Amino acid sequence: MKNIVLVGMMGCGKTTCGKLLAEKLGRTFLDCDLVITEREGRNPTQIFAESGEQYFRDVETALCHELEEQEGLIIATGGGMVLRQENVDALRKNGVVFLLNRSVESIFDGEDLTDRPLAQKGRQDFIDRFEARRPFYFGAAHEVITDFSTPEATVGAILAKLKEYEND
Ligand code: S3P
Repeated sequence: MKNIVLVGMMGCGKTTCGKLLAEKLGRTFLDCDLVITEREGRNPTQIFAESGEQYFRDVETALCHELEEQEGLIIATGGGMVLRQENVDALRKNGVVFLLNRSVESIFDGEDLTDRPLAQKGRQDFIDRFEARRPFYFGAAHEVITDFSTPEATVGAILAKLKEYEND
């Protein structure tokens, strides 16, 4: 059974929807930021501050290569994980990748992003960052989800699309 991989901008709901999806499917949920936090004994904000973004990205890449060997997981990626093609190849190798393409304005205006080191430079910077990342998100995705009315609705949209992959 393939992994189900959620990608998208920080704060778009990957963790919330991933947990709910895992519950509904009776599968194991894995949050990449949480795994990295536990392994490093420090969260992304601390890692960025103490060791820099490059170090964090290398830890992410190592995790991607571990995940390509696993199956049946529901995976919430970090928002920047798709920026390296190597990571995308690993995630797609044994996974169906869903982009949670929630409007970047609604994320910035509606979510608490205080624990996101790359969301501390204001609204326009956040929007520009998304625009720069857009091709990476779409390039990584097998499917694009656009319903964010409620987490249940988002998960419902994922489940509907998953039917097409049932025999994978
Ligand atoms: C990042 C997103 C964060 C976390 C780190 C970097 C990014 O994860 O990995 O702060 O570059 O978009 P979430 O997408 O879970 O917020």
